[in-house]
Order: sequence, then C-alpha cells, then structure tokens
Amino acid sequence: MSVSPEPKSWINAIHAYVPGKSTGADGRALIKLSANENPLGTSPLALAARDTAAAPSRYPDPESTALRSAIGALHGIDPARIVMGTGSDELLNLAAQGYAGPGDEVIYVRYGFSVYDIAARRCGAVPVIAPDADYGTDVGALLGLVTDRTRVVFLANPNNPTGSFLPQGEIARLHAGLRPDVLLVIDQAYAEYLAPQDDDGALALAEAHANVLVTRTFSKIYGLAGERIGWATGAPGIAATLGRIRGPFNVSNTGQAMALAALGDQGFVTHAREHNARERTRFVAALGTLGNHGLRPLPSEANFVLILFAGKLTAEAAYNGLAERGYITRWLPGQGLPQGLRITIGLPDQMDEIAAALREMAEGVK
Ligand SMILES: Cc1ncc(COP(=O)(O)O)c(C=O)c1O
Repeated sequence: MSVSPEPKSWINAIHAYVPGKSTGADGRALIKLSANENPLGTSPLALAARDTAAAPSRYPDPESTALRSAIGALHGIDPARIVMGTGSDELLNLAAQGYAGPGDEVIYVRYGFSVYDIAARRCGAVPVIAPDADYGTDVGALLGLVTDRTRVVFLANPNNPTGSFLPQGEIARLHAGLRPDVLLVIDQAYAEYLAPQDDDGALALAEAHANVLVTRTFSKIYGLAGERIGWATGAPGIAATLGRIRGPFNVSNTGQAMALAALGDQGFVTHAREHNARERTRFVAALGTLGNHGLRPLPSEANFVLILFAGKLTAEAAYNGLAERGYITRWLPGQGLPQGLRITIGLPDQMDEIAAALREMAEGVK
C-alpha cells in the first residue's frame, strides 16, 4: 500500500476560489464584465510609472515605504498602521490566520465575498454564516451568532456579489455589539465607488479601536487588478501581527511604482467613480422599463449590479445569451445564487447593448 502526504481535513474541505471568466465556452475572448475590474482601464500616470520601477533583478522594498506613506497621507493614517498585501485577498487570509485557528468560529453573511469561506477554512476555523435580510446584511442576525468561540467577523461594505451597503450607523452598531476580543474585518474593496458623503466610518473605527481591521485594494477603481496590491489598516498590534506573517516581498517593484502614481491621480479616481455612478443609474433605469419579466436588480453601491431572475427568463439563459452576444458576466450558482447574474458596470455602449439584449431575451421567452 502506498503512503502519501494527507492534506489537513479542513484544507480538503475548501472549494477553490472561482475567478470571473474571460472567455466563452468556445474559448472566444469576450468583453469581460465578470470580475468587477475598471472598464476605463488604469490611470495614464500609473501606466507611465511602470517604466520607473526598480530593476526586476532587485527585490522590491519589503516595507513598501513610499507607497505606505502616500496611502497614509491621502487617508490621514499613520503609515505604521498600514500593511500591504498581494491583493487584499492576502490580507483577508492573514487576518483569519492571525486571529483564528482550529475550533474557532469566523462569521460572515450569506452571499458574502467567497474568499471569507476559504480564509476561515484555511486556518481550520469553522465558518458561521449569518442569514441575509433580502440579500443585504442583517446586523442583528450577525450579532446573534456570536459565541465564546467567535474570533473574526468579515463584512464587505459594499458587499460583493450583492452590492448592498451598510450605512455608518449600522457599522457602528455591529462594532458596538462585538466583544473587544473579536476582530471585525471591514472589507472596503469598493469603498472608492461611494459618494464621499456615504463614508461608512470604517477607517475611523480602525483608528479608534483595537479590534477593527479595514482592507482596501488597488484592483477596482485604481484599475490595477493585475498588479495584485491591497492594503489594510488597524491598531498597531494588528498591523504588526499581519506584518509578521505576510510574504516578505509581497508587492512587486512595478506594483509599488504603479500604485504610488495611481494614488497621485485622484482625478482618474473621481472620473471612474462618476462614470460608474452614472452608468449604474442608467442601466438600472433601463432594466426598470422592462415590464414585468421578473428581473430585479438589487440596489448597488458598487461597480456591478446583481440581477435576480424570477420570471421565464432564467439567470443561466441570460448568462448564455449575453455570452453569445460577446459579453462574459458572472452567473453565481456556486454561491447559492442560481437566480443571480452579476454584471460589472462597463462602458456606456456596452451597458446599452446589455440592457437591450436582456429586453430581447425577456420578451422572447414564451
Ligand atoms: C469584496 C471583495 N474583497 C476583496 C476582493 C479582493 O480583491 P484583491 O485581492 O484583488 O485586492 C474582492 C475582489 O473581487 C472583493 O470583491
């Protein structure tokens, strides 16, 4: 009988992350509206900075010093409280690993970001899933699941894939209801898409309390998904914990140079935010004129809309129909949402074409 290494049982229980697709079933490249990337691309200043990066033969600055100080200056945060990650994915995993282990519990909401399940299981913790409130976050339900074994609570605000958003008062209520030894991770991957007056107060909470970590990313509005750069901020103790277990050179030379330049181009960020808000409003309004075909776009504060299909046209058929017309979107049966299709907000003509295609399909189904 041959013997081979056995993975830990909790690692075996992980379903690998399913990324948004770039091609259709036949391998054809499609317009990608499946991964919530920035349809406007990347700031020209960031693109130009690629050539200024340190030589590839050299290891990057392990502390991402210039980048952390620029992030700190922009957001009013002491750089000592900022930790960089290879995407915010790395930081979400480090948060779970740093604070939870076998037998501990990690809570997040049903229809939360799929990495939370992986992050919890990776360290042997038990994922505990709070029921949603009509696809949004129910703070009461979340708090009701806290036990002596709870170590970490993950919340994306706005949330992916639903687009739902908890206002400042609800975030404060969630934090106030948690014991001080429970780490609240507020994942703000889409925060820059919010109007400035809609700030959920998470950065202020992370500044004021010892049990809050906020994660952010350069993958979304900054248009740097391919460079894999995220950051997190929390109390000095939390930053030090994550710093101890992160990869030592976890942001590349080009990533550091491009992110630094991207931060300096807030005009691009504002332009992308305004484009997204305008196109999202237009797209949802177009869906609203469809008549009673059972399509329901959930209210979204992010750069995508989750449409629920309750009529004759199914989410699967809409997904396939859009792929035939050249668009790859995100159908979500693997996340318990076979009725849901998530569509990233793209360019104006793309959104017009998608709305028209959905109309044609909905009206065509007998
Ligand atoms: C809610 C949320 N958090 C985190 C991430 C991870 O982003 P990245 O690892 O590219 O920073 C995503 C990406 O889709 C997301 O939707």
